[in-house]
Amino acid sequence: MEVVPKRARKILLCATGAYHAYTLPRIILQLLHHFADDVQVVLSRAAARIVSTYAVEVASRHKVFIEMDDTVEHVFVPHIELTRDVDLVLVYPASVSILGKVANGIADELVSALIIAAEVPVIFMPIANPAMNDHPAVVRNVATLRDDGYTVLPPLPAMEVATREGMAEFTGPFPIPTLLMQMRAALGATAGAGHARRG
Ligand SMILES: Cc1cc2nc3c(=O)[nH]c(=O)nc-3n(C[C@H](O)[C@H](O)[C@H](O)COP(=O)(O)O)c2cc1C
Repeated sequence: MEVVPKRARKILLCATGAYHAYTLPRIILQLLHHFADDVQVVLSRAAARIVSTYAVEVASRHKVFIEMDDTVEHVFVPHIELTRDVDLVLVYPASVSILGKVANGIADELVSALIIAAEVPVIFMPIANPAMNDHPAVVRNVATLRDDGYTVLPPLPAMEVATREGMAEFTGPFPIPTLLMQMRAALGATAGAGHARRG
């Protein structure tokens, strides 16, 4: 019987520009506590305007990557090298923009290029307001990503930050149990079989 690993050795957390990016330091610590021995973070430029890069670096104890040509120690081509030694890629929060880019093979900055180049499971946790989530293009992109074999979780309840509509859902607990279940399933799917392309 296949043994499903309970913990990942290392995950790569890619954050894009949804307002929820402000929760990253806490999520990193939760991931380290419940699931991963090591978390390396990549921020999109938009995410880096929402959350403090320094707070993310302190929580993860790693330099954060933002640009395609960021280099650190032995990493010179981050969109290829950052996924080489990770068990999975988690995209949280996943903007509608990153869903669209990956669904259409667009790799014009570090996060999208890295996901498209990844040969490990990738899990998206999308977050957007209801109008964006329900837009036909977004619905289509989510379906394409799932058809392509990616795990795309149901969108998290989002507050409309401009009006504060949906604040009650926004302040609810982060669905860490659901996420853990999906991440463990993604690891289990690849146990003993080498790296699957997607989760
Ligand atoms: C305050 C603020 C909150 C935002 N929240 C979201 C969001 O929840 N979901 C989303 O898809 N985009 C959201 N956006 C828009 C994205 O930041 C924008 O589409 C950006 O280009 C995404 O780029 P990225 O995917 O490279 O991070 C927000 C923008 C701002 C300024």
